[in-house]
Amino acid sequence: MRHSRPVLSTPRRTSLGPGRVTSYQNPNSSEQPFSQFYEYRKLPQQLLCSSDNLVRTWRRISLEYAHDDELPSGHTDEVRTPNALVERFLKAYTEPGDKVIDVFAGYGTTLKVADRLDRVPYGLEFEFDRAAHVREEISTPDHVRQGDVLELDPSWFPACDCCFTSPPFMERTDDRNPFRNYSGESTYEDYLDDVETAFARLDSVLAPGGHVVVDVANMKYEGRVTPLAWDVAERLSNVFRFDGETVVTWEGDGSPDEREGRFGYGYDHSYCLVFTKDSD
Ligand SMILES: C[S@@+](CC[C@H](N)C(=O)[O-])C[C@H]1O[C@@H](n2cnc3c(N)ncnc32)[C@H](O)[C@@H]1O
Repeated sequence: MRHSRPVLSTPRRTSLGPGRVTSYQNPNSSEQPFSQFYEYRKLPQQLLCSSDNLVRTWRRISLEYAHDDELPSGHTDEVRTPNALVERFLKAYTEPGDKVIDVFAGYGTTLKVADRLDRVPYGLEFEFDRAAHVREEISTPDHVRQGDVLELDPSWFPACDCCFTSPPFMERTDDRNPFRNYSGESTYEDYLDDVETAFARLDSVLAPGGHVVVDVANMKYEGRVTPLAWDVAERLSNVFRFDGETVVTWEGDGSPDEREGRFGYGYDHSYCLVFTKDSD
């Protein structure tokens, strides 16, 4: 999830009571199984609490920064989420047949992975050509809609079980509007308002008990730091219950950016923020 110019781009847990996580994982291991999440997902809602047990159990994963395919011809902006990250979370939070939505669909990574895993993909994307591309890539092209997430109407999509998404990113000192693909003007505060509005709109098409996973990074560029991941977490916690975050460290040289830090935003890691829509 990257964007041009100071390359911006775009960005998980609830816990179980003590003793409910079935296997303790070495916190230094990069491969932390998701088995406990399957178990967690099946627990009755009243057994869940908002402690940080799962945060401790699954606080870090490490993946190669890579994409399964090329960008469409003529497109150069590498804004995509690596497929492996989407796959990890969809396997953990959904089952075959579940409806998965991405309201910032981009080039359709979430939809393509969901399709391949026999989930039912739905998506919304602002850019006409990206939406058209995604339609060509999945088995249910009519589930992809071009439009503005800030205007998302509940009639556009059925109730979905999970959202894996990554919003357009903004640096604190930028003045372009990420929600208009960096045309028009915005401030960082207005952008954060739009982020909160976008996820409030998503709430209208998310089933109770559904999960929202947001792929986002903090940014460091020319001495300036934008704590985007934390600001997004804070705003979204006004809409959904924040379950916690997973640190995602990126391996390899797959990042196309020239900025410091292998991931391209001044760091070599990003975050997956996990939220749940409460049932009541
Ligand atoms: C970080 S990218 C998502 C990339 C996606 N995860 C992928 O792997 O291809 C963010 C996307 O949000 C889209 N976007 C920006 N403003 C939007 C809006 N107002 N409504 C819907 N989508 C928007 C951008 O066009 C961009 O494709």
